[in-house]
Amino acid sequence: MIPETTLDVEFCRRHFPALDSGWVFLENAGGTLVPTQVIERLNQFTSQYQVQPGEGYQASQAGAQRIAGGKAVLAQLINAGDDEIVVGPSTTSNVYVLSHALQPLIQSGDEIIVTNQDHEANNGAWRALEASGIIVREWRMNADTDDLEIGDLEALLSERTKLVCFTHCSNIVGLIHDVKAITRKVHDAGGLVCVDGVALIPHRRVDVKDLDVDFYLYSPYKVYGPHMGVLYGKRDLLALLANQNHYFLAGDDFQRRLCPGGYNYELTAAAGGIGEYFDAVHAHHFPGANIGTPERLKQVFDLFAAHERGLSERIETFLRSKPAIRLAGQGAGGRERVGVFSFLVNGCDSGEIPEKLRAGKIGLYADDFYAARCIDALGARAQHGFVRASLAHYNSDDDIGRLIEQLDSII
Ligand SMILES: Cc1ncc(COP(=O)(O)O)c(C=O)c1O
Repeated sequence: MIPETTLDVEFCRRHFPALDSGWVFLENAGGTLVPTQVIERLNQFTSQYQVQPGEGYQASQAGAQRIAGGKAVLAQLINAGDDEIVVGPSTTSNVYVLSHALQPLIQSGDEIIVTNQDHEANNGAWRALEASGIIVREWRMNADTDDLEIGDLEALLSERTKLVCFTHCSNIVGLIHDVKAITRKVHDAGGLVCVDGVALIPHRRVDVKDLDVDFYLYSPYKVYGPHMGVLYGKRDLLALLANQNHYFLAGDDFQRRLCPGGYNYELTAAAGGIGEYFDAVHAHHFPGANIGTPERLKQVFDLFAAHERGLSERIETFLRSKPAIRLAGQGAGGRERVGVFSFLVNGCDSGEIPEKLRAGKIGLYADDFYAARCIDALGARAQHGFVRASLAHYNSDDDIGRLIEQLDSII
């Protein structure tokens, strides 16, 4: 039998210069480290090609090519077409723009559903539409499992539902939602979906076509790239949205219409390095196979997921073994999750734990992580939020051993 390929973590780690510091970085849900491929592209673009792109001279054309290449990688990461994504400053700002651009399609009296599990990015901008007569309903987490249950959503759907905004995976609870099944339910009721994929994108292959989502958002800085945001929309829907840029930019180019003022060229060019890094990981593990195909991304993400599952099991087993710890989502046994572990320690202000871990060169922190409604619903406010340990594929067994050992002595 051919042995199953497993992730060569040491190979991956060599691409992330920040790991040379000897620190264990476990705040990856806040932002991942960047590989040399991204760093070098940023350096190259800013030092050689940062001129007005798309003009007739060499530096300008080379710059335009690098921007387009970066955008293509950002689209490929979720299996979208280059013209179906809009690059913007952040997911928060992309949702804000989308909430304005959608207004011609939503009338006073229509309903929008949001959750109390989501990060505020896919929350506040929609709730603000209440001021224009839109009715906002809240899909709440089940109090025993901290999970969003489809049955509870069904009870909220009606012929007035225009849009359901929810997360693919919460940056606090870490459970992966069945976006395809939820989307089917919403479509059957006549509504659209807007999905926040930010917390999932570093861990799993996303295919917006297969999910059949209407709008999908992620932030490249959570998937080994620079600080920016990506909005995907189905072409026929993007075409119906109101222009959010200067009046003379209201043409068919969605990037122009839905990113007021233009996007960051150097960071978009640098994002091409994410694709180059994935290619390097793929070539190392599967030499000669699926070069340049979408299948290679799936294979790389499958390697990441298998590795992270092993690490996650160790953390989860440890946290569950401690009666003094309450883990977000602990009641949702058997559900698929990513390596995001938010927990409270009895009788302890959450801020004390990261401070102690810092002494052992372990980087993480405690907060509401801008998912304020989720923190309140889960009762973590009094302890100043959850302590959160979140993994990426470059975390090693040794990293997790250090975390567990230190946590054990603190608790
Ligand atoms: C789940 C989730 N959604 C949205 C965001 C916001 O992303 P951005 O910083 O690009 O606005 C974050 C950031 O932490 C997040 O974790």
